[in-house]
Order: sequence, then C-alpha cells, then structure tokens
Amino acid sequence: MELADCIQKRASIRKYASDPVSETDLREMIRRAGMAPSVNNSQPWQFIVVTHKALLEQAAGRVHEKIDTLFPPAKVKSTVDHFSTFFENAPAVIFVAIKPYSAIADKMLDQMDLSHEDLNSIRRYPDLQSIGAAVEHLLLSAVDLGYGGCWLSGLMVARKELEELLQIRQPWSLVAAVSVGKPAGHTVQSEKKPLDEIFTLIA
Ligand SMILES: Cc1cc2nc3c(=O)[nH]c(=O)nc-3n(C[C@H](O)[C@H](O)[C@H](O)COP(=O)(O)O)c2cc1C
Repeated sequence: MELADCIQKRASIRKYASDPVSETDLREMIRRAGMAPSVNNSQPWQFIVVTHKALLEQAAGRVHEKIDTLFPPAKVKSTVDHFSTFFENAPAVIFVAIKPYSAIADKMLDQMDLSHEDLNSIRRYPDLQSIGAAVEHLLLSAVDLGYGGCWLSGLMVARKELEELLQIRQPWSLVAAVSVGKPAGHTVQSEKKPLDEIFTLIA
C-alpha cells in the first residue's frame, strides 16, 4: 500500500476480529519499527510480542487492579478502565521497552551540575521521541499488512506489575504498548484539525 494511503487509513482500532496475526507479519512490523530514527542511532527499544491469551488476560487483570486502587469510585473510572484494558481481546500486543541511552553530551555531565535526567529534559526527551517514531512505524506497517492497531499508554498505571509479568528487567523499562489485529467492523476515523490550523510557513 502507498505510504499516503497507510497514513490516511490508520485509525486507533479497539475491536478486533478473532483472526490471528501471523508471526511473519509481527516480525515484519517489528523489523520496520526498528528502522525508525533514534537519538544517536541508539535504537533504545525492545519489542515483546504477546499472543498468549492467558498472559494478556493476566496483564489486563493487573491493570484492572491498579485502576481500582488508584482511582476512587468515579464516573470516569469505567471509561479509563476500558481504554486501558481492552487490549486483552487483541490477537497480539506488542509491549515496548526502553533502555536509557548515553548521549555524546552525557560525557560532559561530570563537568556540569546536571544529571542524565536533567539533560534529557533539556533536550525534550529524545529517547521518548525515538520510541514515538518506532511506534508510528509499527502502526503504519500494521495497516500496510492488513491489520489495525492502537497505541496504548493507559496500561502504564501498572508499569511495575507488567514489567514483573513480562520479565522486563533493568536497565530496560516498559514505556508503551501497541495492540494489533484485524479490525472488527467498520473503521471510524477520528476528526483531525484542518491543515490551516496546524500549518505555519516561515519563508
Ligand atoms: C502516546 C499515546 C498514548 C495512547 N494511549 C491510549 C490508550 O491507553 N488507550 C486508548 O484507547 N488509546 C490510546 N491512544 C490512542 C489515542 O486515543 C488516539 O490516537 C486518538 O484518540 C486519535 O484517534 P486516532 O488514532 O484514531 O486518529 C494513545 C495514543 C497515543 C499517541
């Protein structure tokens, strides 16, 4: 599929048909995600792909529990819960782990009164920006291969619990996830701002 068509067609998919996502397609999605630009070419990512239904249910269970303890009974709670746990019904979920990168500027840290975290913040989190680029490659590749997906951050409320379940160990940490599968039913595109609202040309 043409890149412009993939971009146009992509939408967050939260309901999936029961068709599995083949390992070949999953590997291809991750291969393309790994082609994304990253700060210093650090490629600070690992992709843990789960198709094991019971494990996904367990993961969603940890998120349910965490939401229950974190949020007092509130009207929005069930919405938060839904958007954070629907991934349990996806045929595949790709968990993304990040490793702290060492920037060239980090070598100057001992001469400055700054930590790696300070520097990362000053540079507006290039490590997280790199992950964003990889996740978008992944989502567009899912569309190209006939699937749909959804970027997930709601589940991060249970980050520690999920890291334990997925055996993600230091220096790695869980940073995002993407659910993938064949969309069930019609895909609804969410409305986007008109071009003139987001475009400034300084010529
Ligand atoms: C960083 C990030 C985190 C997101 N986390 C969630 C999430 O936890 N649950 C969810 O249902 N959608 C999540 N989304 C999807 C957004 O809700 C979605 O992209 C947005 O509503 C626009 O819709 P569209 O993707 O169909 O264009 C996330 C998107 C991004 C970029």
